[in-house]
Amino acid sequence: MLQLERLRFGLILRGSVVAFRAMSDATEGPRYKLARERGRDSFSKRMTSTPIDLRSDTVTQPTTSMRQAIANAAVGDDVIETDPSVERLQDLCAEMLGMESAIFMPSGTMTNQIAIRIHCQPGDEFICESGCHIYNYEQAAFAQLSGVSARTVDGEFGVLHVDQLRDLIRPDNEHLVRTRLVCLENTHNRGAGRIQPYESVLEICEWAKENGLRRHLDGARLFNAAVATGIDLPDWAQHFDTVSVCFSKGLGAPVGSALAGPKELIKQARRARKLFGGGMRQAGIIAAGALYALEHHVDRLAEDHANAQVLADAVRQSEGLSLQPEIVDTNIVIFRVDPSMGSASQFVESMREERVLAMATAPQLIRLVTHLDVNAEQVARAGDVIKQVAALLQE
Ligand SMILES: Cc1ncc(COP(=O)(O)O)c(C=O)c1O
Repeated sequence: MLQLERLRFGLILRGSVVAFRAMSDATEGPRYKLARERGRDSFSKRMTSTPIDLRSDTVTQPTTSMRQAIANAAVGDDVIETDPSVERLQDLCAEMLGMESAIFMPSGTMTNQIAIRIHCQPGDEFICESGCHIYNYEQAAFAQLSGVSARTVDGEFGVLHVDQLRDLIRPDNEHLVRTRLVCLENTHNRGAGRIQPYESVLEICEWAKENGLRRHLDGARLFNAAVATGIDLPDWAQHFDTVSVCFSKGLGAPVGSALAGPKELIKQARRARKLFGGGMRQAGIIAAGALYALEHHVDRLAEDHANAQVLADAVRQSEGLSLQPEIVDTNIVIFRVDPSMGSASQFVESMREERVLAMATAPQLIRLVTHLDVNAEQVARAGDVIKQVAALLQE
């Protein structure tokens, strides 16, 4: 980069970068003063533009057509009896996953926790990967609401191997909790959208079945795994007793999740949903957004995956940044900021000054997620910003 361009960029990034470098007015060098003058116009222009929001794939706005579908939705009372739009969604979801039945719920947290509820009794234990959403980000609801404990196993960026699990089933002994369930997450959120490979899903689920354990899949981003691998949804789903999917992540619907499985289990889930306060009346209003997303937004996830590769390349090209893991499977990119460049929060703040929003997920880790509301051009710009911020902080 030319020296002049570097100087101009110094102004744009002034906020946290300047704070990070402890540049008070008294100590600010002529480089920054010059850059401030040159950059004023472009800076104010950027401040009025919409930010490129890469914090999560949950930030999407409903599209115009989706809003239309929501406005026109036929609704009923899904607690007294049924709601026609909810029913259509549940049927379509079950069909797409190749499961017997499905039930609509407000959130992925609820579908996961109700799955645990119906698979386990108080005093039971489930096995899961230590970075998974169920264990880390759902307030241990399995313990609070269902009297169930968790046994965690460290995966490699969320990916487990059956050999890690073989010795974990507790013997039948009144001193011990009963091992009852295995939960997998695919793709893995904290593992940077990594796909639990099909072969290992198969091995883990076969082992679990042979040993009398139930299997639940947190498939909040299962659609991403299916699109990225070309392995169909029913192929993934068939190895599990229950599968939870989310409509408000990559699919871009405003609200909702579904739990799919055999009719008998889904009947139990409906009872538990009422207990957990998830009975919703004219739920067709939100189900219509989810239906629209299922019908229109699955295949396009490939675009998000391609966009994530552009961000990954930007990270690879930046000294001091490293991908965690090196390979990006789907729509989530996590990278580490070398401590010599400051913290992840400082890096995120510098990106924010450039109207690119990212999330610091640990003191040195930053997460970027591509989705329906960021196009290739915006992603290219975000990549440039990453490279520029990194170059500036390297100086
Ligand atoms: C893998 C995974 N499972 C479950 C959830 C929970 O979904 P919700 O926010 O709808 O409760 C999330 C949310 O980000 C997630 O990433």
